[in-house]
Amino acid sequence: MEPQFSYQNMDKTARYEQFLKDFIPYISDEHEEISVLANTTAALRQAFGWFWIGFYLVRDEQLVLGPFQGDVACYRIRYGRGVCGTAWAQASTQVVPDVEQFPGHIACSGSSRSEIVVPLIANGTVHAVLDIDSDTLATFDDTDRHYLEILCGKICDEIYKD
Ligand code: SME
Repeated sequence: MEPQFSYQNMDKTARYEQFLKDFIPYISDEHEEISVLANTTAALRQAFGWFWIGFYLVRDEQLVLGPFQGDVACYRIRYGRGVCGTAWAQASTQVVPDVEQFPGHIACSGSSRSEIVVPLIANGTVHAVLDIDSDTLATFDDTDRHYLEILCGKICDEIYKD
């Protein structure tokens, strides 16, 4: 049976600490991009319950929808567009407390209120972005940025480094 990533009665920091401790060994021997990204979205959904969790993959000068958990979402995002395209262009995490205040935000779902997008960078190149949406305002902060950047770095070590 596969491990479960379900945690109760933990604050955010403790939940991330436990999640990383449990999840990083789980991906440590698998190098297939789609498989690792798919299980990452499922595990994050189990651990944190956010409304939409998914990856957009850099393909031919665009971001293309990859593995995700949640409602159907837009297929393609152009470089520099929306929160995802901005994270790609700037190669930096975007924390958006209110999506309506982010110029050019792309609304895949009317339920999204706040968002965080973390680029997956290996050897100086952005290969994908992790996009997480919440249906409440100001869900994400520097704690989320800190731990999700660690997670994305570990994922890169497994699937994008030679
Ligand atoms: N809101 C994103 C688009 C992707 S959906 O949230 C799944 C953006 O502005 O890039």
